[in-house]
Amino acid sequence: MIMKKSLLMALAVMIMTACSAKDPKVLITYFSASGTTKSLSQDLAKATGADLFEIEGAQPYTADDVNLGNREARAFKEMADKSFRPELKESPKNLKSYDVVYIGFPIWGNAAPNIIYTFIEKNDLKGKTVIIFSTSGSSDLGNSFRLLKEQYPDLTLVEGTTLKRNPTPEARQEVINKLKEAIPVK
Ligand SMILES: Cc1cc2nc3c(=O)[nH]c(=O)nc-3n(C[C@H](O)[C@H](O)[C@H](O)COP(=O)(O)O)c2cc1C
Repeated sequence: MIMKKSLLMALAVMIMTACSAKDPKVLITYFSASGTTKSLSQDLAKATGADLFEIEGAQPYTADDVNLGNREARAFKEMADKSFRPELKESPKNLKSYDVVYIGFPIWGNAAPNIIYTFIEKNDLKGKTVIIFSTSGSSDLGNSFRLLKEQYPDLTLVEGTTLKRNPTPEARQEVINKLKEAIPVK
């Protein structure tokens, strides 16, 4: 009888624990100069049910700014000055309420664009799980992620993955799946 009672108690505790474990609140933030990271972020939002926030420059990035044929273009100037912080148009209003924040960007010069550094410095991400992802021509995320980790050792940064140019539908889906699985289970 005592045995039965304690079993029932254990079961009740298990059920209560399961009920109280709530899904984390997730925000996908991204910067995109020519649409690739935007489109991936939108699909990731559909797959996860997360909210979306676009990181934009106070001065918008134009096609000329990311013209790979012009080494004088804004993107190259920013890449050459790692300490430069382009101003943000705005920050997410209710960041406090999110447990998990994705940050996505196009890889520029095998690193995250400077505006990602501005975003991280202007927003309080301490205590949150921050999942980093990217799109690129051919670079892997590794170096961009390492640089961010070195710069912000106090943040909980998780290395996601990159979507490389001209992916097959399967490869694209794989990236979305991998990024979705990076959300920690509580
Ligand atoms: C200024 C600049 C630098 C880039 N540097 C790299 C690089 O180092 N490695 C790479 O694989 N792709 C590089 N790319 C390609 C972009 O990462 C890729 O096209 C990305 O998907 C663009 O994303 P977006 O459309 O969201 O802006 C670069 C593109 C630009 C404009």
